Amino acid sequence: MSHSGRLTVDAARLRGDLETLGKIGRAPGAGITRTSFSRSDMQAREWYRASCRAASLELRVDAVGNMFAGAGSDAGVAAVWSGSHIDTVPDGGAFDGAVGAVAALECVRRITEEGISLSRPVRAVVFADEEGNYSHLFGSSALTRGFDEEQLRGMVGRDGDHLVDALAAGGWDVAAFGDTRVDPESVYAFVELHIEQGPRLEAMATQIGVVTSIVGLGGAVVEFYGRADHAGTTPMTGRRDPLLAAADLIAAMPAIAASVSDVAVATCGRVDISPGSANVVPSLARLTLDYRDPDAARLGTLGARLEEKAAQAGSRHGVRYAWVPDVPIAPVELNPRIRSAIDRHADSLGLSTLAMPSGAGHDSQNMATIAPTGMIFVPSKSGRSHCPDEDTDWTDVTNGANVLLNTLIELATSGIS
Ligand code: HGY
Ligand code: MN
Ligand code: MN
Repeated sequence: MSHSGRLTVDAARLRGDLETLGKIGRAPGAGITRTSFSRSDMQAREWYRASCRAASLELRVDAVGNMFAGAGSDAGVAAVWSGSHIDTVPDGGAFDGAVGAVAALECVRRITEEGISLSRPVRAVVFADEEGNYSHLFGSSALTRGFDEEQLRGMVGRDGDHLVDALAAGGWDVAAFGDTRVDPESVYAFVELHIEQGPRLEAMATQIGVVTSIVGLGGAVVEFYGRADHAGTTPMTGRRDPLLAAADLIAAMPAIAASVSDVAVATCGRVDISPGSANVVPSLARLTLDYRDPDAARLGTLGARLEEKAAQAGSRHGVRYAWVPDVPIAPVELNPRIRSAIDRHADSLGLSTLAMPSGAGHDSQNMATIAPTGMIFVPSKSGRSHCPDEDTDWTDVTNGANVLLNTLIELATSGIS
């Protein structure tokens, strides 16, 4: 118990777990690469399984790799869920996702150890492939809107491998996908703890962010088809160079984002060129785009303007283009009553709070479509994330976990008030 008489997490155990998990997939002198269903992700899953076993918690893994830990059966009672992800971006950090996934497990352990009597069970969840090696927010999308077998079979990873092959290699029975959705009636509420991944909490010397809304996410793969030619003998006029069209589009992205709103963002995080030789004019340039805005209509406009620019750039450079959009993930408002519960518990623990929107995508935005959902942020040093320098003070991690624990207990006992 804390000095205030409230239940608290075991800070040393939480830190120890995060440090152990943070060694899995870490390259010497670099960041962590635990992309979903890779060897390191499978090792991290094994670590999670062993942690559940050590705590005498049951672990269930669904057909697409989401994991659920808890004690006892749900017995037809809607459960309170909490969790996040343990996959990372390539060369990422030790806190994005891991903090919320491990803190949820710690909360379930504390509730079980203390023998707290609940009206509804609390489940710790690890969502598969949040970082979108195959599909952004994959696990929570599978649980909430569902994928059919054809969609699952069509998912290709950053390395060109197929999701179904990765699942089969990991021991999943790809013939038995079935319906990937969860019954919305079985989830009473969802709360996710996460690092902020931006600079605001630190700048305002605030300990807890109470998330108000989550940005809308769009994405697309744009292919420009040109003509391979000799780099030395083909005059600069008359070439059909798809990379020039790609460059036009990329260079226009800041202005396009600014034309939509002052918070819209557009990023090209990946360029693939074929055949990929310095002495060959490329035949193909493939861009992977990510674009975001907190407003659904503006998100649509942003996608449309980017595609319009792709068409213009293609015609300017004499190359055809194809635009293959991702299914957009809508922006969401988080539940006001869970927000005030988070705020109240932070206050009782003596922690300062700031209501703030999230510019990062989270499984919470999918969960919010089926259950009342809240999110807790803790500060990120210098706002850095999706990079090896990602860092959060252990005190801040503990603070966030304590707010999470007390919020979960309230939801699982008195409910959403
Ligand atoms: O990309 C995102 O916002 C999240 O980190 N997956
Ligand atoms: Mn991330
Ligand atoms: Mn994350």
